[in-house]
Amino acid sequence: MVKASIALVTGSSSGIGFETSLALARKGIDTFATMRTPQKGDTIKRIAKAENLPITVLKMDVNNDDSVRKVVKKIINKVNRIDILVNNAGYGLFGALEDMTTKEIKNQFETNYFGAVRVIKEVLPTMRKQRRGIIVNVTSIAGVVGIPSECIYSSSKFALEGLSESISYELRPHGIKVILIEPGVINSNFVPNIKFPSLIGKKSKSGRLRKNASFSHYSQTIDAFLSHYYPLMKNAPSPALVSKNILEAVKIASSSSQCFFRYTVGEDSKSLATAKKDMSDFQLHEFITKRMLE
Ligand SMILES: NC(=O)c1ccc[n+]([C@@H]2O[C@H](COP(=O)([O-])OP(=O)(O)OC[C@H]3O[C@@H](n4cnc5c(N)ncnc54)[C@H](OP(=O)(O)O)[C@@H]3O)[C@@H](O)[C@H]2O)c1
Repeated sequence: MVKASIALVTGSSSGIGFETSLALARKGIDTFATMRTPQKGDTIKRIAKAENLPITVLKMDVNNDDSVRKVVKKIINKVNRIDILVNNAGYGLFGALEDMTTKEIKNQFETNYFGAVRVIKEVLPTMRKQRRGIIVNVTSIAGVVGIPSECIYSSSKFALEGLSESISYELRPHGIKVILIEPGVINSNFVPNIKFPSLIGKKSKSGRLRKNASFSHYSQTIDAFLSHYYPLMKNAPSPALVSKNILEAVKIASSSSQCFFRYTVGEDSKSLATAKKDMSDFQLHEFITKRMLE
Protein backbone atom coordinates (compact mmCIF):
# COMPACT_ATOMS: atom_id res chain seq x y z
CA MET A 1 0.00 0.00 0.00
CA VAL A 2 1.23 3.49 -0.80
CA LYS A 3 2.86 5.36 2.09
CA ALA A 4 1.02 8.18 3.86
CA SER A 5 -2.30 7.31 2.25
CA ILE A 6 -5.40 9.05 3.48
CA ALA A 7 -8.83 7.44 3.19
CA LEU A 8 -12.37 8.71 3.65
CA VAL A 9 -15.11 6.13 4.17
CA THR A 10 -18.83 6.98 4.30
CA GLY A 11 -21.36 5.08 6.40
CA SER A 12 -18.79 3.67 8.84
CA SER A 13 -21.18 3.16 11.74
CA SER A 14 -21.90 -0.45 10.79
CA GLY A 15 -21.51 -3.28 8.29
CA ILE A 16 -19.31 -2.82 5.25
CA GLY A 17 -18.24 0.76 6.08
CA PHE A 18 -17.26 -0.23 9.61
CA GLU A 19 -15.18 -3.21 8.43
CA THR A 20 -13.62 -1.25 5.57
CA SER A 21 -12.49 1.57 7.85
CA LEU A 22 -10.85 -0.95 10.16
CA ALA A 23 -9.29 -2.90 7.27
CA LEU A 24 -7.76 0.25 5.72
CA ALA A 25 -6.47 1.52 9.07
CA ARG A 26 -4.95 -1.90 9.82
CA LYS A 27 -2.84 -1.40 6.68
CA GLY A 28 -1.53 1.85 8.14
CA ILE A 29 -3.78 4.10 6.06
CA ASP A 30 -4.98 7.21 7.92
CA THR A 31 -8.71 6.61 7.81
CA PHE A 32 -11.49 9.12 8.32
CA ALA A 33 -14.43 6.92 9.27
CA THR A 34 -17.45 9.12 8.69
CA MET A 35 -20.99 8.49 9.93
CA ARG A 36 -24.14 10.56 10.27
CA THR A 37 -24.56 9.63 13.96
CA PRO A 38 -21.15 9.84 15.66
CA GLN A 39 -22.60 8.29 18.85
CA LYS A 40 -22.52 5.05 16.84
CA GLY A 41 -18.75 5.41 16.61
CA ASP A 42 -17.92 4.15 20.10
CA THR A 43 -17.09 0.59 19.00
CA ILE A 44 -14.79 1.61 16.15
CA LYS A 45 -13.06 4.14 18.43
CA ARG A 46 -12.57 1.47 21.10
CA ILE A 47 -11.06 -0.98 18.58
CA ALA A 48 -8.87 1.79 17.12
CA LYS A 49 -7.57 2.63 20.58
CA ALA A 50 -6.94 -1.00 21.53
CA GLU A 51 -5.08 -1.74 18.27
CA ASN A 52 -3.51 1.71 17.96
CA LEU A 53 -5.10 2.28 14.56
CA PRO A 54 -5.03 5.61 12.66
CA ILE A 55 -8.82 6.15 12.64
CA THR A 56 -10.61 9.46 13.11
CA VAL A 57 -14.40 9.42 13.42
CA LEU A 58 -16.16 12.41 11.84
CA LYS A 59 -19.85 13.26 11.47
CA MET A 60 -21.01 13.24 7.87
CA ASP A 61 -24.53 12.91 6.47
CA VAL A 62 -24.15 12.22 2.76
CA ASN A 63 -27.61 13.70 2.13
CA ASN A 64 -26.40 17.11 3.22
CA ASP A 65 -24.20 19.39 1.06
CA ASP A 66 -22.86 21.36 4.03
CA SER A 67 -22.05 18.28 6.05
CA VAL A 68 -20.06 16.76 3.17
CA ARG A 69 -18.28 20.05 2.38
CA LYS A 70 -17.29 20.65 6.01
CA VAL A 71 -15.84 17.17 6.50
CA VAL A 72 -13.80 17.22 3.30
CA LYS A 73 -12.51 20.70 4.19
CA LYS A 74 -11.59 19.51 7.67
CA ILE A 75 -9.61 16.57 6.27
CA ILE A 76 -7.82 18.77 3.74
CA ASN A 77 -6.96 21.33 6.44
CA LYS A 78 -5.58 18.57 8.63
CA VAL A 79 -3.68 16.30 6.22
CA ASN A 80 -3.86 18.17 2.92
CA ARG A 81 -4.76 15.15 0.78
CA ILE A 82 -7.31 12.40 0.16
CA ASP A 83 -6.06 9.31 -1.65
CA ILE A 84 -8.93 6.89 -1.24
CA LEU A 85 -12.66 7.56 -1.11
CA VAL A 86 -15.02 4.70 -0.29
CA ASN A 87 -18.62 5.65 -1.07
CA ASN A 88 -20.43 3.09 1.02
CA ALA A 89 -23.34 4.84 2.78
CA GLY A 90 -26.67 3.50 1.59
CA TYR A 91 -29.86 1.64 2.38
CA GLY A 92 -32.51 -0.40 0.62
CA LEU A 93 -36.00 0.77 -0.27
CA PHE A 94 -37.90 -2.40 -1.13
CA GLY A 95 -41.40 -2.72 -2.57
CA ALA A 96 -43.40 -2.11 -5.72
CA LEU A 97 -43.15 1.13 -7.66
CA GLU A 98 -46.88 1.89 -7.60
CA ASP A 99 -46.89 1.69 -3.79
CA MET A 100 -44.10 4.24 -3.35
CA THR A 101 -44.45 7.98 -2.98
CA THR A 102 -42.22 10.22 -5.07
CA LYS A 103 -40.68 11.42 -1.81
CA GLU A 104 -39.71 7.87 -0.79
CA ILE A 105 -38.19 7.32 -4.22
CA LYS A 106 -36.27 10.61 -4.14
CA ASN A 107 -34.99 9.87 -0.62
CA GLN A 108 -33.51 6.61 -1.88
CA PHE A 109 -31.67 8.42 -4.66
CA GLU A 110 -30.67 11.23 -2.28
CA THR A 111 -28.57 8.78 -0.25
CA ASN A 112 -27.53 6.00 -2.63
CA TYR A 113 -26.84 8.14 -5.69
CA PHE A 114 -26.61 11.85 -4.84
CA GLY A 115 -24.82 11.02 -1.57
CA ALA A 116 -21.97 9.45 -3.54
CA VAL A 117 -22.06 12.22 -6.18
CA ARG A 118 -21.75 14.88 -3.46
CA VAL A 119 -18.69 13.30 -1.88
CA ILE A 120 -17.03 12.58 -5.23
CA LYS A 121 -17.50 16.19 -6.37
CA GLU A 122 -16.06 17.47 -3.11
CA VAL A 123 -12.89 15.31 -3.18
CA LEU A 124 -12.17 15.65 -6.91
CA PRO A 125 -10.34 19.02 -6.82
CA THR A 126 -7.92 17.56 -4.28
CA MET A 127 -7.42 14.25 -6.10
CA ARG A 128 -6.98 16.10 -9.39
CA LYS A 129 -4.28 18.39 -7.90
CA GLN A 130 -2.55 15.36 -6.37
CA ARG A 131 -2.78 13.64 -9.77
CA ARG A 132 -3.71 10.55 -7.79
CA GLY A 133 -6.81 9.09 -6.22
CA ILE A 134 -8.94 5.99 -5.94
CA ILE A 135 -12.71 6.20 -5.78
CA VAL A 136 -14.44 3.02 -4.65
CA ASN A 137 -18.18 2.99 -5.14
CA VAL A 138 -20.05 0.28 -3.28
CA THR A 139 -23.01 -0.50 -5.51
CA SER A 140 -24.61 -3.96 -5.49
CA ILE A 141 -25.41 -6.86 -7.77
CA ALA A 142 -28.79 -5.04 -7.78
CA GLY A 143 -26.95 -2.35 -9.76
CA VAL A 144 -26.10 -4.91 -12.45
CA VAL A 145 -29.29 -6.96 -12.59
CA GLY A 146 -32.77 -5.58 -11.87
CA ILE A 147 -33.89 -7.49 -8.75
CA PRO A 148 -37.62 -8.08 -8.13
CA SER A 149 -39.13 -5.88 -5.38
CA GLU A 150 -36.01 -3.71 -5.37
CA CYS A 151 -36.97 -1.48 -8.31
CA ILE A 152 -35.85 1.83 -6.82
CA TYR A 153 -32.92 0.39 -4.88
CA SER A 154 -31.77 -1.27 -8.12
CA SER A 155 -32.25 1.96 -10.10
CA SER A 156 -30.21 3.97 -7.60
CA LYS A 157 -27.36 1.46 -7.85
CA PHE A 158 -27.63 1.25 -11.68
CA ALA A 159 -27.31 5.05 -11.69
CA LEU A 160 -24.14 4.90 -9.60
CA GLU A 161 -22.75 2.17 -11.87
CA GLY A 162 -23.41 4.32 -14.96
CA LEU A 163 -21.82 7.35 -13.36
CA SER A 164 -18.76 5.31 -12.35
CA GLU A 165 -18.28 3.80 -15.79
CA SER A 166 -18.59 7.18 -17.46
CA ILE A 167 -16.46 9.35 -15.14
CA SER A 168 -13.64 6.82 -15.28
CA TYR A 169 -12.83 8.18 -18.77
CA GLU A 170 -12.53 11.81 -17.63
CA LEU A 171 -10.71 10.95 -14.39
CA ARG A 172 -8.12 8.46 -15.64
CA PRO A 173 -6.04 11.14 -17.45
CA HIS A 174 -5.81 12.90 -14.06
CA GLY A 175 -4.52 9.79 -12.30
CA ILE A 176 -7.83 9.02 -10.62
CA LYS A 177 -9.19 5.47 -10.74
CA VAL A 178 -12.77 4.39 -10.18
CA ILE A 179 -13.65 0.96 -8.80
CA LEU A 180 -17.05 -0.70 -8.48
CA ILE A 181 -17.76 -3.13 -5.65
CA GLU A 182 -20.87 -5.23 -6.28
CA PRO A 183 -21.82 -7.32 -3.24
CA GLY A 184 -24.58 -9.89 -3.19
CA VAL A 185 -26.44 -10.52 0.06
CA ILE A 186 -24.21 -9.57 3.02
CA ASN A 187 -25.05 -10.11 6.66
CA SER A 188 -24.88 -6.53 7.95
CA ASN A 189 -27.48 -4.15 9.36
CA PHE A 190 -28.85 -3.80 5.84
CA VAL A 191 -32.00 -5.83 6.57
CA PRO A 192 -32.98 -4.00 9.79
CA ASN A 193 -32.38 -0.75 7.87
CA ILE A 194 -34.53 -1.66 4.84
CA LYS A 195 -37.38 0.79 4.24
CA PHE A 196 -40.74 -0.22 2.79
CA PRO A 197 -43.31 2.12 1.25
CA SER A 198 -45.38 3.54 4.11
CA LEU A 199 -48.51 2.56 2.16
CA ILE A 200 -47.92 -1.16 2.49
CA GLY A 201 -46.37 -1.65 5.83
CA LYS A 202 -44.20 -0.94 8.78
CA LYS A 203 -41.17 -2.95 9.76
CA SER A 204 -40.59 -4.98 12.85
CA LYS A 205 -37.31 -4.36 14.70
CA SER A 206 -35.61 -7.17 12.79
CA GLY A 207 -36.47 -5.47 9.51
CA ARG A 208 -39.30 -7.82 8.57
CA LEU A 209 -42.25 -6.32 6.78
CA ARG A 210 -45.49 -6.15 8.73
CA LYS A 211 -48.44 -5.57 6.44
CA ASN A 212 -50.73 -2.61 6.89
CA ALA A 213 -54.46 -3.00 6.52
CA SER A 214 -54.09 -1.34 3.13
CA PHE A 215 -53.47 -3.92 0.47
CA SER A 216 -50.82 -3.82 -2.24
CA HIS A 217 -51.70 -5.16 -5.68
CA TYR A 218 -48.14 -6.48 -5.72
CA SER A 219 -48.19 -8.41 -2.41
CA GLN A 220 -47.77 -11.73 -4.15
CA THR A 221 -44.50 -10.72 -5.79
CA ILE A 222 -43.14 -8.93 -2.69
CA ASP A 223 -44.06 -11.82 -0.38
CA ALA A 224 -42.55 -14.39 -2.73
CA PHE A 225 -39.35 -12.37 -3.00
CA LEU A 226 -39.01 -11.76 0.73
CA SER A 227 -39.60 -15.43 1.50
CA HIS A 228 -36.49 -16.17 -0.59
CA TYR A 229 -34.52 -13.12 0.55
CA TYR A 230 -34.79 -13.25 4.35
CA PRO A 231 -33.47 -16.83 4.72
CA LEU A 232 -30.48 -15.93 2.50
CA MET A 233 -29.36 -13.42 5.10
CA LYS A 234 -28.79 -16.15 7.71
CA ASN A 235 -25.95 -17.79 5.77
CA ALA A 236 -24.77 -14.68 3.97
CA PRO A 237 -21.09 -13.70 4.11
CA SER A 238 -20.02 -11.10 6.64
CA PRO A 239 -19.13 -7.51 5.71
CA ALA A 240 -15.48 -8.50 6.21
CA LEU A 241 -15.61 -10.32 2.85
CA VAL A 242 -16.49 -7.03 1.17
CA SER A 243 -13.80 -5.06 3.02
CA LYS A 244 -11.26 -7.72 1.98
CA ASN A 245 -12.23 -7.16 -1.67
CA ILE A 246 -12.08 -3.39 -1.25
CA LEU A 247 -8.61 -3.65 0.25
CA GLU A 248 -7.44 -5.90 -2.58
CA ALA A 249 -8.92 -3.53 -5.18
CA VAL A 250 -7.23 -0.52 -3.59
CA LYS A 251 -3.92 -2.38 -3.37
CA ILE A 252 -3.98 -3.29 -7.07
CA ALA A 253 -5.13 0.17 -8.12
CA SER A 254 -2.43 1.94 -6.10
CA SER A 255 0.44 -0.31 -7.13
CA SER A 256 -0.06 -0.72 -10.86
CA SER A 257 -1.13 1.30 -13.84
CA GLN A 258 -3.94 -1.20 -14.33
CA CYS A 259 -6.89 -1.70 -12.11
CA PHE A 260 -9.76 -4.14 -12.23
CA PHE A 261 -12.78 -1.94 -12.58
CA ARG A 262 -15.45 -4.23 -11.19
CA TYR A 263 -15.50 -6.62 -8.22
CA THR A 264 -18.47 -8.91 -7.66
CA VAL A 265 -18.49 -10.09 -4.04
CA GLY A 266 -20.19 -13.30 -2.92
CA GLU A 267 -21.25 -16.41 -4.81
CA ASP A 268 -24.78 -15.10 -5.42
CA SER A 269 -23.41 -11.91 -6.93
CA LYS A 270 -20.97 -13.80 -9.15
CA SER A 271 -23.62 -16.19 -10.46
CA LEU A 272 -26.06 -13.37 -11.26
CA ALA A 273 -23.34 -11.32 -12.99
CA THR A 274 -22.43 -14.38 -15.09
CA ALA A 275 -26.09 -15.00 -15.90
CA LYS A 276 -26.46 -11.39 -17.06
CA LYS A 277 -23.43 -11.78 -19.36
CA ASP A 278 -24.26 -15.20 -20.76
CA MET A 279 -28.04 -15.30 -21.00
CA SER A 280 -30.50 -13.64 -23.32
CA ASP A 281 -32.84 -11.13 -21.65
CA PHE A 282 -35.64 -13.67 -21.77
CA GLN A 283 -33.50 -16.43 -20.24
CA LEU A 284 -32.34 -14.05 -17.48
CA HIS A 285 -35.93 -13.10 -16.70
CA GLU A 286 -36.90 -16.76 -16.39
CA PHE A 287 -33.80 -17.56 -14.33
CA ILE A 288 -34.47 -14.77 -11.81
CA THR A 289 -38.19 -15.58 -11.64
CA LYS A 290 -37.39 -19.20 -10.82
CA ARG A 291 -34.68 -18.33 -8.36
CA MET A 292 -36.34 -15.46 -6.50
CA LEU A 293 -40.08 -15.68 -6.94
CA GLU A 294 -41.13 -19.35 -7.11
N1 LIG B 1 -25.83 -5.93 2.98
C1 LIG B 1 -26.13 -6.23 1.73
O1 LIG B 1 -26.77 -7.27 1.46
C2 LIG B 1 -25.65 -5.35 0.62
C3 LIG B 1 -25.60 -5.89 -0.67
C4 LIG B 1 -25.16 -5.10 -1.72
C5 LIG B 1 -24.80 -3.78 -1.49
N2 LIG B 1 -24.86 -3.27 -0.24
C6 LIG B 1 -24.50 -1.85 -0.08
O2 LIG B 1 -23.44 -1.77 0.85
C7 LIG B 1 -23.46 -0.48 1.48
C8 LIG B 1 -23.32 -0.66 2.98
O3 LIG B 1 -24.43 -1.38 3.48
P1 LIG B 1 -24.31 -2.43 4.67
O4 LIG B 1 -24.65 -3.74 4.13
O5 LIG B 1 -23.04 -2.27 5.40
O6 LIG B 1 -25.55 -1.97 5.56
P2 LIG B 1 -25.61 -1.21 6.97
O7 LIG B 1 -24.95 -2.06 8.00
O8 LIG B 1 -27.03 -0.85 7.14
O9 LIG B 1 -24.72 0.09 6.76
C9 LIG B 1 -25.18 1.18 6.02
C10 LIG B 1 -24.40 2.40 6.44
O10 LIG B 1 -24.83 3.52 5.66
C11 LIG B 1 -25.10 4.59 6.56
N3 LIG B 1 -25.99 5.60 6.02
C12 LIG B 1 -27.26 5.49 5.57
N4 LIG B 1 -27.72 6.69 5.19
C13 LIG B 1 -26.71 7.58 5.40
C14 LIG B 1 -26.57 8.99 5.22
N5 LIG B 1 -27.56 9.74 4.75
N6 LIG B 1 -25.38 9.55 5.54
C15 LIG B 1 -24.35 8.82 6.02
N7 LIG B 1 -24.45 7.51 6.26
C16 LIG B 1 -25.60 6.90 5.94
C17 LIG B 1 -25.67 3.90 7.79
O11 LIG B 1 -25.67 4.80 8.88
P3 LIG B 1 -26.68 4.68 10.13
O12 LIG B 1 -26.07 3.67 11.06
O13 LIG B 1 -26.73 6.04 10.68
O14 LIG B 1 -28.01 4.21 9.56
C18 LIG B 1 -24.67 2.76 7.90
O15 LIG B 1 -23.47 3.22 8.47
C19 LIG B 1 -24.79 0.17 1.05
O16 LIG B 1 -24.52 1.11 0.04
C20 LIG B 1 -25.60 -0.99 0.51
O17 LIG B 1 -26.53 -0.59 -0.46
C21 LIG B 1 -25.28 -4.01 0.82
